[in-house]
Amino acid sequence: MSGTTGAPSEFFYVWHLPVRVTHWANVAAFFTLALTGLYIGAPAAVAVHVPQMTYVRMVHVAAGYVLLCSVAIRFYWAFVGDRGASWRAFFPYLRTDGRRKMIEELQFYAFLRRDPPRSSSVINVSHSIVFLGFVVEIVTGFALLSVAGSHGILAPLFAPLFALVAPQNVRLVHVVVMWFLLAFTVEHIYVAVLLDWKERSLLLASMITGYMGHERRH
Ligand code: HEM
Ligand code: HEM
Repeated sequence: MSGTTGAPSEFFYVWHLPVRVTHWANVAAFFTLALTGLYIGAPAAVAVHVPQMTYVRMVHVAAGYVLLCSVAIRFYWAFVGDRGASWRAFFPYLRTDGRRKMIEELQFYAFLRRDPPRSSSVINVSHSIVFLGFVVEIVTGFALLSVAGSHGILAPLFAPLFALVAPQNVRLVHVVVMWFLLAFTVEHIYVAVLLDWKERSLLLASMITGYMGHERRH
């Protein structure tokens, strides 16, 4: 740290391009999906604006394809990319030192420790749950698309799912997971702003530039 301004004197390249591009593609797709999804689900909208509904559904499905591609690229990068973006970072509880770091972080969050954690294992676990949420949205979304008309391989692909679960329940899961992701978004932005400010880590800008004021700790 440089003493006078509080600005970092050194920068660390922590987010490679695929992580940044997929993050913002996910965000754009997610906000589009949530907005159009809320419109699709609102009974008043169905009754009053039927012609618009076709257009809104089309935008929803197009954004669905964007999310599918973006999540697929991030998954691929988790296996072939840099260490910081590896799938291993998302499952710290599989390693002894990861479990220790998680306990230290949780103790700090529970006001049982004074010194702030030097790692972000719990945050990484929360991101793994968000990616799981995305996968559930993609599976249930394409399943809903398959019952809405003939869509090539989609109908035979999801026939086994609908043999077990009624479409209404698939829809329920689709909506409940959206609310979970929206709740995460509120917490996520709050934490990103808070850490950027308190740690002077340039965390917010790092998701655009790739550079942070300190090394990313797992
Ligand atoms: C994070 C991602 C997503 C969110 C937040 C989201 C949200 C929603 C919501 C709120 C609804 C209305 C359901 C209701 O109230 O009954 C809906 C319906 C639907 N979604 Fe999504 N969705 C997402 C991803 C996807 C994806 C990836 C697809 C795949 C193409 C998709 C396809 C559909 C379809 C086909 C419907 C039903 C439309 C209808 O019944 O006419 N969604 N979505
Ligand atoms: C629009 C405001 C947003 C900002 C400023 C923002 C900022 C950030 C930052 C700074 C990180 C790195 C955090 C770290 O690991 O220490 C991050 C990661 C992440 N964010 Fe966001 N985010 C935003 C919206 C969202 C939304 C809406 C979602 C999903 C619903 C989301 C999901 C994620 C995920 C899954 C990661 C981990 C990325 C990866 O490892 O590929 N973000 N975000």
